[in-house]
Amino acid sequence: TVETTLQGNMPFPMGAAVNVSLLKNNINYRNLVTKEFNSITAENAMKFASLHPSKDTYTWSDADYLVDFAIANGKRVHGHTLNWYKSLPDWVENFQGTTAEWENLLKTHIQTVVGHFKGKVVSWDVVNEAINDDGSFRNTIWVQKLGVDYIGRAFQYAHQADPNALLFYNDYGHEFGPTKRTAILNLVNDLKSKGIPIDGIGLQMHIRVTQNDANLTAAISTAAATGLRVHISEIDIALNPDNIQNMTYTAAMGDQQAAKYKTIVKAYHAISKAQQFGITQWNVTDSDSWIPSTYNRPDWPLPFDALYQKKAAYQGILDGV
Ligand code: XIL
Repeated sequence: TVETTLQGNMPFPMGAAVNVSLLKNNINYRNLVTKEFNSITAENAMKFASLHPSKDTYTWSDADYLVDFAIANGKRVHGHTLNWYKSLPDWVENFQGTTAEWENLLKTHIQTVVGHFKGKVVSWDVVNEAINDDGSFRNTIWVQKLGVDYIGRAFQYAHQADPNALLFYNDYGHEFGPTKRTAILNLVNDLKSKGIPIDGIGLQMHIRVTQNDANLTAAISTAAATGLRVHISEIDIALNPDNIQNMTYTAAMGDQQAAKYKTIVKAYHAISKAQQFGITQWNVTDSDSWIPSTYNRPDWPLPFDALYQKKAAYQGILDGV
């Protein structure tokens, strides 16, 4: 008998965001990534501040390590992210320049990064989180300096640097309701209609276990209705969104979480096969998830526990197909 793994049992790629220092230093983490997943996203190592800490300096070592690991183990690499308003280095936050100089900064960064990983990184989140929850464009430093049309140009710059790379628009909150997701879909459809090279939509899906199913399935089916590839790009399911400090994990909570993972996987499995780019969880186990440290609370958002063991959520994922 062959051991059950996510990559071996699911009909589309199964990914994890990977923390490079854990990959290097923690053998249990590394073994679990190697065994379970066939797609890898860098949790932080390909963000602007990580790769490009000063104007003329690029630091590739962590990202290269991750890419080399992935290729040596037959895993796809998804790039995250060429453009975001967070994780920017001080030199960008403080950059004084004309519009042309800002455009050059954007273009140079995108083309240097995409060029460096050409032929190794098959897909990119080109622009991340450009839409507010009320559906308006987020007033980021990029919009302030370049206007909202910079979004389309970011895709064109990436495409010029690697015409074979699949290019995604990535955001969270499609499941909040029609307001935000309609704005995202309008943006994506507008890019398509202008001939901008966009191949896919990333739905982050950082959700809470109380998230209603109707909005989850609508998030997936409306994204698929664009005809683009759909990537569930950063999934985790929080069990303690109200920040209860002394909460402990129970089997009942695990079962609710498993049911929510199953609902999502089932809705995803229902879209056309050609559009199923894959499902990526945001890190590997509950002990390395960004949720507890970011929100300063106990939580258990992922399918593996702190001892690298499968939780109920793992079976929930398998049950979705
Ligand atoms: C998070 C990482 O997980 C953290 O380690 C880091 O401190 C901040 O960024 N949406 C995204 C991801 O697109 O890049 C974020 O990752 C989580 C939210």
